[in-house]
Amino acid sequence: MSSIDQRWDLNKLRDENEVLQELILTAELSAQTRLKIVKRAATLVKDIRASRKPDLMELFLAEYGLSTNEGIALMCLAEALFRVPDEVTIDALIEDKIAPSDWSKHLRQSSSPMVNASTWALLLTGRVLGAEQPILSQVIQKMIRRMGEPVIRKAVSTAIRHMAHQFVLGQDIKAAMARAELLERKGYSYSYDMLGEAAITAGDAALYAQAYRNAIDAISSISTAQDITSNPSVSIKLSALHPRYEVAQSVRVINELVPIVRSFAIRAAKAGIGLTVDAEEADRLALSLEVIAAVQRSPELAEWNGFGVVVQAYSRRAGDVIDGLYNLAKQFNRHFMIRLVKGAYWDSEIKAAQVKGLKDFPVFTHKAASDVSYIALSRKLLNMTDHIYPQFATHNAHSVSAILEMTSHLPKDKYEFQRLHGMGERLHEIVHHQEKTRCRIYAPVGKHRDLLAYLVRRLLENGANSSFVNRIVDEHIKPEEVAACPFSVVESNHQRSNAIQTGARLFLPDRRNAKGFDLTNTITLSSLDKTRPRRPDLKAHPVLYKEVHSQSVQNIVNPASGQKIGEVVLASEGD
Ligand code: FAD
Ligand code: 2OP
Repeated sequence: MSSIDQRWDLNKLRDENEVLQELILTAELSAQTRLKIVKRAATLVKDIRASRKPDLMELFLAEYGLSTNEGIALMCLAEALFRVPDEVTIDALIEDKIAPSDWSKHLRQSSSPMVNASTWALLLTGRVLGAEQPILSQVIQKMIRRMGEPVIRKAVSTAIRHMAHQFVLGQDIKAAMARAELLERKGYSYSYDMLGEAAITAGDAALYAQAYRNAIDAISSISTAQDITSNPSVSIKLSALHPRYEVAQSVRVINELVPIVRSFAIRAAKAGIGLTVDAEEADRLALSLEVIAAVQRSPELAEWNGFGVVVQAYSRRAGDVIDGLYNLAKQFNRHFMIRLVKGAYWDSEIKAAQVKGLKDFPVFTHKAASDVSYIALSRKLLNMTDHIYPQFATHNAHSVSAILEMTSHLPKDKYEFQRLHGMGERLHEIVHHQEKTRCRIYAPVGKHRDLLAYLVRRLLENGANSSFVNRIVDEHIKPEEVAACPFSVVESNHQRSNAIQTGARLFLPDRRNAKGFDLTNTITLSSLDKTRPRRPDLKAHPVLYKEVHSQSVQNIVNPASGQKIGEVVLASEGD
């Protein structure tokens, strides 16, 4: 059985409207304050738009958003290209993704000549690769294709590399630290993340662990401030550090992963820096909290206030997680850093719950709900500053404005804002400058081949037409609309349609889906376990027209535990 505390899973699929009603109360925002926040946010939107032109990548992603087939084709290409080892398959992949799309409709649509030039290139590439009925003779067409492929391969991989460069600070920690100096001189700090996640071999996990150790050692040399919140920090992903980081292996995970994370924490504590555990998939949340709680018990961490945890506001359990962490911090009499994000795995959470056939989702199903949750949980964190150092990680001007409103009474060193490297620069530049608030940049470090999963999450974020970063680039949307109040949306019921079908309703009206079980939910596991027959005398025998007389009896053993679970009688020749 799993060694995970079931309380973390109690509200995994709790009714979202019920949670939202509580969150609206937690936020404690009057109509007047909500209006003030929108005004402040709309001004920020105007300032951002006026301060600097969006960069090439923002414009590119605005043109090729995920609501277009072409945007999806480019994302698939970005996701797969660096993993393909041979040129023949690379060419086939490019042809598969580029040729069928209708690039011509994007021609001259962007305000950027560079984006329009890229569209031309994609259009021509598609024409060369895709022509089914060549206007030129077959031979010439073939020749163009052969000469063109290396060029196309080079062009496409250069474009994808450019995209990778946008989101990675450096290919190793030294290079990243050198590049960070520029903004550090302007008062920003950094949290370094070693790229890598979802290790599937122990060898990979060991390599990622070594990269984290190197990073902690490298940044300890520049961490000189007495106040830990002024020093750089490291962010880790638990899925990178264990090849079977999953609920079904929880006993092994606790035995093997806790010592690794504890050793990082002790190293970070000695260096006077923070160490933050990133939030990943909902199915691993309870397990991660178990690891986090176990790490705290180490006496070497007694005086250290640098342990950090990321909490995802799109999760229906986020409030419970914050309460649990607060109690843990109190129990050990220390401060935790809590980085509040909305959550980067929304699409896969929805899909995973549908695939399992679950009756609901672990995340909210409409964007405004995650926004409301973010603001309400910010308030919650701000009421816990006796044991929590809140870190508000968002690129959304409305969310930032709400936090500025709620923190007007607080000293600036009681909390900080955070952004990702390559995103939200202008918003945070303005706020950092005008409000003198702290800002930390989350900076991925590593080789491009380890970037893919991270890159796809950034492309989803930039390309989704509901994202703040996508909407702000589109000058057709008025600032007041970009900065609209999510509370009004949530409170006006019409947005809460069941546009996203639960797994249970997926095939209606044709048929009901089979009942699904969440085998990562400890409560479901325990109830299944209770109904499982526990009879060591189970006996299986052949069903013949007469009782079998065979003396051949074999013990059947559970291969996982070696325990005998029953016997099987094998039919003899006579039977
Ligand atoms: P917004 O555009 O306001 O919000 C976009 C978000 O809304 C989506 O990402 C999603 O969470 C949510 N959303 C979108 N559509 C829907 C919908 N239909 N229903 C419900 N919700 C919806 N993410 C992690 O998961 N784990 C981490 O450890 C982590 N670390 C981060 C560290 C930093 C410093 C930063 C800045 C971000 C981190 N993120 C992490 C990523 C973060 O989750 C996304 O950047 C964030 O969700 C984008 O939110 P926003 O407020 O900037 O943008
Ligand atoms: C992610 O990896 C930033 O941790 C966040 O998407």
